[in-house]
Amino acid sequence: MALYSEKVMDHFRNPRNVGQIEDADGIGEVGNAKCGDIMRMYLKVENGIIEDVKFKTFGCGAAIATSSMATEMVKGKTLKEALQLTNKAVAEALDGLPPVKMHCSLLAEEAIHAAVEDYLKNHPEEAPKD
Ligand code: FES
Repeated sequence: MALYSEKVMDHFRNPRNVGQIEDADGIGEVGNAKCGDIMRMYLKVENGIIEDVKFKTFGCGAAIATSSMATEMVKGKTLKEALQLTNKAVAEALDGLPPVKMHCSLLAEEAIHAAVEDYLKNHPEEAPKD
């Protein structure tokens, strides 16, 4: 069996939402100290909905594929839904990741959460209630 699913390879070769948002409402940057990979997420938020999201990832193929999938999964969603995104859900949406690569998907979860939290720092009144 190939190490990576077709979906992982597709998102690695043709990552969605690559780039940066100049006037982003929230930015989240996380890194993995062990491998040195860095992921940065930019959000544009309107009426509590993530209208746009872009990422820049300096990292391995799995980190790029999970960044890409994570952005697709939160686009058009509420802040609350974005905060509920888990790395497991991202990995499942990619038809799985090899166990040694699960930590890469954790970066995607953490980067999305960090970007939402950055947004909420300036808009505490929009914090999800429960
Ligand atoms: Fe570092 Fe994948 S090896 S995020």
